[in-house]
Amino acid sequence: MSGLFDPFRVKDVELRNRIAVSPMCQYSSEDGFPNDWHFVHLGSRAVGGAGLVVVEATAVSPEGRISPADSGIYLDAHVEPFAKIGRFLKEHGAVPGIQIAHAGRKASARRPWEGDNHIETGEGGWDTIAPSAIAFGGNLPKVPREMSLQDIERVQQNFVAAAKRALAAGYEWLELHFAHGYLAHEFYSPLANQRTDQYGGSFDNRIRFMLETLNAVREVWPERLPLTARLSVTDWIDGGVTVDESIETARRFKAAGLDLLDVSQGFVTPDISHIPWAPGFMIPLAGRIRREANIATAAGWMITDPQQADDAIRNEQADMVLLAREMLRDPYWPYHAAVKLGVTDAWQMLPVQYARAVRR
Ligand SMILES: Cc1cc2nc3c(=O)[nH]c(=O)nc-3n(C[C@H](O)[C@H](O)[C@H](O)COP(=O)(O)O)c2cc1C
Repeated sequence: MSGLFDPFRVKDVELRNRIAVSPMCQYSSEDGFPNDWHFVHLGSRAVGGAGLVVVEATAVSPEGRISPADSGIYLDAHVEPFAKIGRFLKEHGAVPGIQIAHAGRKASARRPWEGDNHIETGEGGWDTIAPSAIAFGGNLPKVPREMSLQDIERVQQNFVAAAKRALAAGYEWLELHFAHGYLAHEFYSPLANQRTDQYGGSFDNRIRFMLETLNAVREVWPERLPLTARLSVTDWIDGGVTVDESIETARRFKAAGLDLLDVSQGFVTPDISHIPWAPGFMIPLAGRIRREANIATAAGWMITDPQQADDAIRNEQADMVLLAREMLRDPYWPYHAAVKLGVTDAWQMLPVQYARAVRR
């Protein structure tokens, strides 16, 4: 039985422990380029001891950015600045991961601290695309253009090109962003997808965009490296995606070569009143999907307590845990968790420059 501080091997990649830094948009890029902020933000979390550091939702095309300040990997010139970050993560013992994404109808928005609302086309914003011409609502009222079959193929090719650039930049863990109400999830959820062609309606049709994208990316992303996806496994609302459906989706993804499912939830509608917030509330769902779809899972959401994280691994509910906000509060969470759980010589997790000085 493995615990939080046991290594985790997926294909040719080995994480030093089961702790990952969840992807977190920093809204700090210009023209998609990562910069010193990203280097320090991500680098310090590798120094803090995480086994995997996943770069924020990184757009596969300019129109796929949530905000004009999102990171992107749609230009060959993006490769080198991402490579610099990846090299540092690796030097400090973390596996460099990256999430690639298209924001669909939620694109063209202001940064959270500037209002989080849609920016008008022509005022720094742009026209959005989605499976159907239905607005998200709330503070994102822009009505997207319904994607043509050519649009679908183009975006899938954007994912493929992004995966190739991530590989060229030395990343070893790729996550497809199929969650949180962005483009892929908009295809998955009947709440956003009302198409009548082969991409809408039945379950098979609603997962087609994701499966085709996954298949296309798997062809260029080497077999020896983990390919993962983040899925909103439930919309929490009648008429939306259900956990039962997502178990079948996970089975299909596995058959298509997915190595791990990052079990997430919600955000395809502005209505969040149904979400049963509680510490670690997604862990049981990650466990159910792991068991019933027989696929490795990552559990996230409101995990802050080392014991809860360790239990999730020991109880075989998840193969790894993903922490976001707690990692912002404490980049050294992995080290502090090791101390709390009584890991022998936890100080050795830290870089040599620090380790002896903090040894107790
Ligand atoms: C500042 C911030 C940015 C985020 N950006 C992303 C992102 O780029 N991609 C993503 O899948 N989730 C994103 N999330 C969601 C987190 O990855 C995570 O799933 C969520 O915050 C729940 O985990 P937590 O309770 O540990 O914070 C973001 C969350 C925060 C707080």
